[in-house]
Amino acid sequence: MTLLENLKAKAKANPRRIVLPEGEEPRTIKAAVIITLEKLAHVTLVGNRAKIEAVAREQGVDVSPVPSVDPETSPKFEEYAQAYYDIRKAKGVTIEQAQKLVKDTVFFGTMMVHKGDMDGLVSGALHSTGDTIRPALQTIKTKPGINIVSSSFVMIVPDCEFGDKGMFIFADCAVMPNPTDAELAQIAVASAETAKVLCGMDPKVAMLSFSTYGSAQHELVDKVKRATAMARELAPGLKIDGEMQADAAIIPKVGKSKAPQSAIAGQANVLIFPDLQSGNIAYKLVERLSKAQAIGPILQGIAKPVNDLSRGCSVDDIVHLVAITSVQAAGV
Ligand code: ACO
Repeated sequence: MTLLENLKAKAKANPRRIVLPEGEEPRTIKAAVIITLEKLAHVTLVGNRAKIEAVAREQGVDVSPVPSVDPETSPKFEEYAQAYYDIRKAKGVTIEQAQKLVKDTVFFGTMMVHKGDMDGLVSGALHSTGDTIRPALQTIKTKPGINIVSSSFVMIVPDCEFGDKGMFIFADCAVMPNPTDAELAQIAVASAETAKVLCGMDPKVAMLSFSTYGSAQHELVDKVKRATAMARELAPGLKIDGEMQADAAIIPKVGKSKAPQSAIAGQANVLIFPDLQSGNIAYKLVERLSKAQAIGPILQGIAKPVNDLSRGCSVDDIVHLVAITSVQAAGV
């Protein structure tokens, strides 16, 4: 079974309630119908029912099995607006502003998750990463013991003997622009957890740099060294090492020669990049140059699962991300 087949089987075994705030968007409607028919999750579209049905007709799909909710007419609207106001009033938000914001489908969907009426959210076919996850950062916030939200990509590289037969976790490639050493340590720990929960991997984490075991001296290298030590303190059983270069991390021969005493060098399957510039560039290059499949970004560290689509996503991408979100929700 491929990873995606495996994740779909897991989702089907324990389908959770996932809200799709871009409920009037054609790919989202098609995906919602597939998800409902395949029983991968209990999805709810957010939007105007007449519009949803009109778009479904244009797309040639029958949306009747998929429930929807409209912020304009929902009996829960005032409760959600009040809940948003209660959380944000200390930041100067008024009840009128809260009512206006919660009319927005992403805010409304996020409040459904926050209030426990849904288990997870998938959006981003129309919205930017920031607009998708900001409502969740403001209201759902992080898991206990964690204070940052970050993200992972599952990278599946064809014809590759490194990592877990070509499967890797890359992080953070989408959220934290310039993590501190302590934040980098949290990204490492959260990414190892994602590797375990979603991919069934035995995580071996490499903290990447342009230096291996002190081969270069620079304050940027020192930051990665400190982050490695902090991650060990946060998760004492974690298999982690650094700082190391990417070739030393994944290629056994190079790992042996550059870091012979390391149990991770040459064996790493979770690659932690020092910042968003390097992480985002790396995942896109690997995806395009090696025709790898890049699944994500999968958000981690958030108290309830919220995931972001790319605006160029396909119907299948939405189906897969909903299955992943449902598996995350079942594991929360
Ligand atoms: N973890 C936890 N909380 C956070 C985080 C985080 N990573 N980032 C922001 N917050 C909190 C803030 O503390 C703030 O809380 P408060 O309002 O209660 O004080 C709240 O969330 C909102 O913060 P803002 O600063 O208003 O949010 P911002 O506009 O900075 O958005 C975002 C956060 C979207 C994550 C931002 O860091 C960002 O734009 N990151 C890059 C996203 C991106 O462009 N990625 C590349 C493209 S994606 C791709 O290629 C697949």
